[in-house]
Amino acid sequence: MMVRRRPVPGWPAVLGADGVLLRPYQRADADAWVALRRRNEQWLTPWEPTPPRSWADANSAAGFRLVHTAQRRAGLRGDAMTFAVCLREDGGERLVGHLNLGNIVRRAFCSTFAGYWVDHRVAGRGVMPTALALAVDHAFGPGGLHRVEVNIRPENTASRRVVEKLGFREEAHHPRYLHIDGAWRDHVGYALTTEDLHDEGGLLARWRRTRDRADTGPGPAEIK
Ligand SMILES: CC(C)(COP(=O)(O)OP(=O)(O)OC[C@H]1O[C@@H](n2cnc3c(N)ncnc32)[C@H](O)[C@@H]1OP(=O)(O)O)[C@@H](O)C(=O)NCCC(=O)NCCS
Repeated sequence: MMVRRRPVPGWPAVLGADGVLLRPYQRADADAWVALRRRNEQWLTPWEPTPPRSWADANSAAGFRLVHTAQRRAGLRGDAMTFAVCLREDGGERLVGHLNLGNIVRRAFCSTFAGYWVDHRVAGRGVMPTALALAVDHAFGPGGLHRVEVNIRPENTASRRVVEKLGFREEAHHPRYLHIDGAWRDHVGYALTTEDLHDEGGLLARWRRTRDRADTGPGPAEIK
C-alpha cells in the first residue's frame, strides 16, 4: 500500500539573496562536497560533532551518500531543513558551505537548532550571516516555526560574531552540552523568536541595514 506523506511546511526550498544561494543537496554534489570537506578538516574539526570514524571515511563519496540519505529522510519527516550553501558566480553556482535547521519540534515548541559552516577560502565575506538570515526568514515564514536557536562554543569568536551581527539574543550557558572534537563542550545559547523581528521586515532586511550602516562608518549598538 502506498503511504502518502503529508506535505512538510517550508520544505523543500530554494532561497537566495546578495549572491548567496541555499538549496537542498543533490546527489551530483558528491565530488564538490568531498573536496570541500577534505580541504577544510583543520578548519572544521574544532567545531564539529565528534565523527564516528576517521575524517577521510566520514567525508568520502560513501559518507556523502549516507549523510545525503539521512538528510533527505529528515526533510521528508519534517525534522530538518538541510541546505547546501552556494555562491552564485560566473553564471553558475559554487558549493561553499552548509546550513542545517535541525531538531525541528512543532506543536507547542515550533523551534529548531541552526548549525553551519563555510569553506575557509570564503570566510569573512559575510556569506553565513546572509545565509542564516535567509534561513531564519524562511523558518519563520513558510516553515511555520517560532524560534531558532544557535549553540556555539564560547571560544568560537567567528560564529558568535555571526549571531551577534544578526541580533540573536544570548540566553544561556550550557555546561558540557555537545560532544564536539572529542569531548563534551560548554556552549553559549543564542536565540531569536518571531517577536524579535516584528516591524523589521524580516532578518535579511535587518541584516542588510546593519551591514550597510557598518560600511559607512560607526553603526548602531547591534554592530558593535
Ligand atoms: C563561523 C563561520 C560559519 C562564519 O562564517 P562567515 O561567512 O565567515 O561569517 P562572517 O563573514 O560574518 O565573519 C564572521 C567573523 O569571522 C572572523 N573572520 C573574518 N575574516 C576571517 C577569515 N578570513 N578567516 C577566519 N575568520 C575570519 C571575524 O571575526 C568575523 O567577524 P567580523 O565581521 O566582526 O569581523 C565560519 O567562520 C566557519 O565556517 N567556521 C568554522 C565552522 C564553525 O565554526 N561553524 C559554526 C559552529 S557553531
